Order: sequence, then C-alpha cells, then structure tokens
Amino acid sequence: MTPKHPSESLTTLTDLVLPSETNPLNNLFGGELLARMDRAASIAARRHSRRIVVTASVNHVAFNRAIPLGSVVTVEAKVSRAFKSSMEIYIDIWVEDRESGNKTKANEAIYTFVAVDDTGRPVEVPQIVPETELEKQRFDAALRRKQLSLVLAGKMNPHDATELKALFF
Ligand SMILES: CC(C)(COP(=O)(O)OP(=O)(O)OC[C@H]1O[C@@H](n2cnc3c(N)ncnc32)[C@H](O)[C@@H]1OP(=O)(O)O)[C@@H](O)C(=O)NCCC(=O)NCCS
Repeated sequence: MTPKHPSESLTTLTDLVLPSETNPLNNLFGGELLARMDRAASIAARRHSRRIVVTASVNHVAFNRAIPLGSVVTVEAKVSRAFKSSMEIYIDIWVEDRESGNKTKANEAIYTFVAVDDTGRPVEVPQIVPETELEKQRFDAALRRKQLSLVLAGKMNPHDATELKALFF
C-alpha cells in the first residue's frame, strides 16, 4: 500500500454554536463538541484508509476554553499515525473572533479509529509519512499513546508497553 501524508486526510468542519447546543452558562455543550470531533475524525480516517472506519477509542480530550453561544467553531482533523488497522487522529479546535476574524485554539483531542471490512473485521491501512515539524512530533508520540490506551482498556500488559515505560525510566 502506498504511504500517505497527514495532509491528505485533512478534514475541516466549520459551524456555528446554536442555542440548542449550549449548557446553562451559554457555552457549547461538551457532548456536542465531542460529536463534531467524532464526525471530523471519522472523515479523516476514511480519507486516509478509503475503508469503513469505526471509533475504537477517545484517547484524550482537553476542554481548555469555553466556547460561547454564537461562536464560529472550526474542527480540524488529520491522521497523525497509522499502525496496522488503527489510525490515530489528532484534532485541533479553533474559535474565530467575530471582529478580527483571527482564529484562537480552544481545545484539542485525540481519537483512534479502526478500518474494517463489511463484516466489521479490522483491515490494513496505508502508513503515514509526516512532513511538518508538528506532524513529526505527533507521529513520534503516537505509539506511546496507543500503548497507554491499550493498557487502560485492559488489552495490553503494562510490561509489554516498552515505549510508554521509556517515559518513566
Ligand atoms: C474497534 C474494533 C474494530 C477492534 O476490534 P478487535 O476485535 O478488538 O480487533 P483488534 O484487537 O485486532 O484491534 C484492531 C486494532 O484496534 C486497536 N485497538 C483496539 N482497541 C483499542 C483501544 N482501546 N485503543 C487504541 N487502539 C485500540 C488495536 O491495537 C489494533 O490496532 P492495529 O491493528 O493497528 O495494531 C472493535 O472493538 C469494534 O468494532 N468496536 C466497536 C466500534 C464502534 O462501534 N464504535 C462506535 C462507538 S459505539
């Protein structure tokens, strides 16, 4: 399979925050943002693999900044690393200033998707070749994030998580 660049899976979703999508403080409801991120990540994973993809895990979400009613929110998702059948998708959330149009990063998240066949069995995906400095950093750290996710899910023995253990010793 021909390797691909992260930019080939880049998916950008821009939408408003409507009153039905806010919490009692009039900020975007966390579950609504999770759904938007899941949609963008799923398209990115599909663009990379050209297969059916399913969410395997939400590895990390940081709600660093509240997003007020009426904001224009952009969700940017890209495959940061591909393994055998799984792909790590890195998501950046940007909020646009109404007057200047400048975008400020509000949140970020990391999802894992798996490519599957028509019966739901995992299938192989193309590898990723990072290009930019940020893509290289995210690529390098993805293996330990995968190991952490598998350990937390009870699918990997912590003793086998060599890349993750190297962080501590
Ligand atoms: C995700 C799913 C396909 C994995 O199937 P499985 O039988 O566990 O298959 P495997 O153990 O071979 O795992 C497949 C890949 O997923 C990875 N994976 C599985 N669980 C993971 C987790 N919690 N975190 C990170 N990666 C995970 C495995 O490491 C493997 O990666 P690799 O092939 O790149 O090495 C299966 O659990 C599934 O269909 N889950 C439901 C998905 C779904 O419906 N999501 C929507 C939310 S309801």
